[in-house]
Amino acid sequence: MLDKKKSNLLLCITGSIAAYKSVDLARLFIKNNFDVRVVMTEASKEFITPLTLQAISGHQVHENLLDTEAERAMGHIELAKWADLIVIAPCSAETISRLTQGRADDLLGAIFLASEAQKFIAPAMNMNMWSNQTTQQNIEYLSSIGMDIVGPSKGEQACGDNGYGRMSEPEEIYETIMLTQNKSLIGKKIIVTAGPTREQIDPVRFISNNSSGKMGFAMAEAAAISGAEVILITGPVSLSCSPQIQRLDVQTADEMYREAQSSMSDADIFIGCAAVADFKPVHANIQKIKKTDEDRLNIELQKNIDIISSLAREFPDKRFMGFCAETERVEEHAKSKLIKKGLDFIVANDVSKSDIGFDSDYNEVSVFTDNSHQFFHKASKNLLAIQLVNLLSKENQSLH
Ligand code: C5P
Repeated sequence: MLDKKKSNLLLCITGSIAAYKSVDLARLFIKNNFDVRVVMTEASKEFITPLTLQAISGHQVHENLLDTEAERAMGHIELAKWADLIVIAPCSAETISRLTQGRADDLLGAIFLASEAQKFIAPAMNMNMWSNQTTQQNIEYLSSIGMDIVGPSKGEQACGDNGYGRMSEPEEIYETIMLTQNKSLIGKKIIVTAGPTREQIDPVRFISNNSSGKMGFAMAEAAAISGAEVILITGPVSLSCSPQIQRLDVQTADEMYREAQSSMSDADIFIGCAAVADFKPVHANIQKIKKTDEDRLNIELQKNIDIISSLAREFPDKRFMGFCAETERVEEHAKSKLIKKGLDFIVANDVSKSDIGFDSDYNEVSVFTDNSHQFFHKASKNLLAIQLVNLLSKENQSLH
């Protein structure tokens, strides 16, 4: 955890088109009372000049390992000891690979080995380079030895491809790092539900919805970064989560409720991100339903349990944050759910907008409580999750 005094941040820039975003990142840290020094690799200087970073940081940029002048001013070991935090943003596939080998033949590599500071990596590369097995194995290894990986995010790339590989936006990198430092929810247990539920009609057919689970997974990750113990109860999704999150995979609303209920007694906060199917078949056929000559088939449905409102009634001393997706009169519907379900917060988004919500990586939400309303501009679900977890932790602090 950082002290109240000015903290020392070493920003390392490597060869990527995203290098221009490092200027904003440096600015954000400086604005928030960090002393920032910059290390640039040879390749990074093809994208942005040391002079730019010198002007922003107010210090000469560190470029070479074997430079007697620079070593006299502040040598690589001194720099390594000076840093409270090291952030490599953008971090290229090449640098990721070099770090896994522990190479020390340039300044960045030597500092990385010599420093005991907490280290963050914000990858930036083409989507195929990112998904390549070698890069994924390298990332897994760096993560296993304690590096924190921020991003990358999904979107259009300089090469014209569209996928995961873009460096996360500076604000997301900054907020993620601050959340790891503040550890504001340490000692808290948080339960998050995510994804759709699946209600079987017969062995091969089911009722479900398009929920991707992204918002719930982002909430679970943000809560874990802030120090909470997190249980993530998820319906069927194709997402993975960090190893420190306890993940429980379920299919139906009833299973989701049972898992949540059995974890609630020593929990502090419940975050309901799951898009629970509203109805389930009264009877799930044991055998596959056969086609007949009839043009119609009636399947009798019954209402599913409302997980969050049942838990809010059963555990009135816990805090509850629900999510809702509306297509019209967002505020009115959100507030009525807040009251009807007995929640402390409801996070509402307008799914009539096609660029946010369900399967998107972006969202734009309003958060309502009994007596407040806060709007969060369109941002990645990861950044929004961090902002929402910050909201929960501020509320938690004001209760003590
Ligand atoms: O679907 P609805 O808009 O009512 O969802 C609002 C909130 O209620 C969400 O947090 C969702 O996870 C929760 N919910 C639930 N069980 C249901 C339906 C919704 O926990 N059966």
